[in-house]
Amino acid sequence: MLNFEFCSPTRFLFGRNAEEKTGEMIKKYGGTKVLIHYGGGSVIRSGLLERVKGSLEKEGIPSVELGGVQPNPRSGLVYQGIDLCRREGVDFVLAVGGGSVIDSAKAIATGVLAEGDFWEYWEKKTPVRNALPIGTVLTLPAAGSEASPNSVITNEKTLIKRGTAGDALRPRFSVLNPELTYTLPAWQTASGASDIIAHILERYFTNTQEVEVTDRLCEALLLTMIKQTPRVIADPKCYEARANIMWTGTLAHNNVVGVGREQDWATHAIEHELSALYDVTHGAGLAVLFPAWMEKALIHDPKRFATMATRIFGIPNDGDDLRTGRKGIQAWREFFKSIGMPENLRSLGVREEDFEYMANRLLLKNDGTLGNFIKLTPKDVVEIYKSCY
Ligand code: NZQ
Ligand code: ZN
Repeated sequence: MLNFEFCSPTRFLFGRNAEEKTGEMIKKYGGTKVLIHYGGGSVIRSGLLERVKGSLEKEGIPSVELGGVQPNPRSGLVYQGIDLCRREGVDFVLAVGGGSVIDSAKAIATGVLAEGDFWEYWEKKTPVRNALPIGTVLTLPAAGSEASPNSVITNEKTLIKRGTAGDALRPRFSVLNPELTYTLPAWQTASGASDIIAHILERYFTNTQEVEVTDRLCEALLLTMIKQTPRVIADPKCYEARANIMWTGTLAHNNVVGVGREQDWATHAIEHELSALYDVTHGAGLAVLFPAWMEKALIHDPKRFATMATRIFGIPNDGDDLRTGRKGIQAWREFFKSIGMPENLRSLGVREEDFEYMANRLLLKNDGTLGNFIKLTPKDVVEIYKSCY
């Protein structure tokens, strides 16, 4: 196991009616004027925004609002949010929505205190050390941004989608009420589930040896997702299934299952090109790309793939790790299909003629490659795109 430091300071308020405590939490963490940030309107339609505002009013905390965050959030609204916060003397940013809203809130919280342009942190992946405090009321289990130090934004001028990280971006608190996810369309539920699974797989495929504790934690979370996702798609108001998925989404990405091991993250970078250029739903892109990446990685460590096939899908190992591993990859394809995810890039509207352009835009490491479990060149990435077209 590798050396690590782990600090996950976010306070979670989990369960029915948890959002009623939002005002109390902001007060606890010193907020005196709040920006309430939200998306395209789902929180207005559900009545959640009014309830959250009521909770702030109860504590006597004044607020201003900025809605309109779109999926795959854009830099333009971030600049508007920064101006608004400075003008109004905002000292706390509250995100009410999914990962896009939370990521946009994190970018605003950074920009308000930054001397230069917030985008510089994202473009160069410079760690963020200073930001206004952030709280979240989560409505979509997917990105894990409610507990992660990450934020992913698309620059609307260049259409480059980049993420940065920094402990200053970990929310002070996150409200997780599974009932708030009842209104999710099946597509968003399944895309979110695919993203959660991808966050675990990015960590599961590692070259670090002797990491049984995190291996087993990853497997527990994957098994939970495989069982609970079909349940919630069949019955969107199943509280227990929604609750299990919601907490898995948080654990999948606060890094508790990733510490002490090298992690991969190539598939995420490869997907971000699709979201940036075609506005593909992040989780749906991952559901197509992950099995394709696995096919490429299989030969590197067939034993790991065979272990995955056996432990996750109960596929018996017939003594041939390659063959068993390949069956495991096929089982993932079938699972993603069964929850309504697309099977190829074509059906996501991706164009074959853009493959090289996308691969050449990737931010590579100094050695000219991407990923850690296997090292991909832009040429390898084009092959991956082609293999799932
Ligand atoms: O905008 P509204 O009207 O709220 O509708 C949203 C949006 O259209 C809707 N929605 C959310 N909660 C709902 C709901 N509809 C009905 N009922 C509810 N309860 O769902 C749509 C998608 O929302 P979005 O926030 O975009 O989805 P998600 O949470 O999947 O976030 C995706 C973004 O997160 C980034 C992705 O790249 C993408 O930009 N990621 C962020 C990470 C992080 N910060 O740690 C890590 C991830 O790997 C990921 O890259
Ligand atoms: Zn993701």
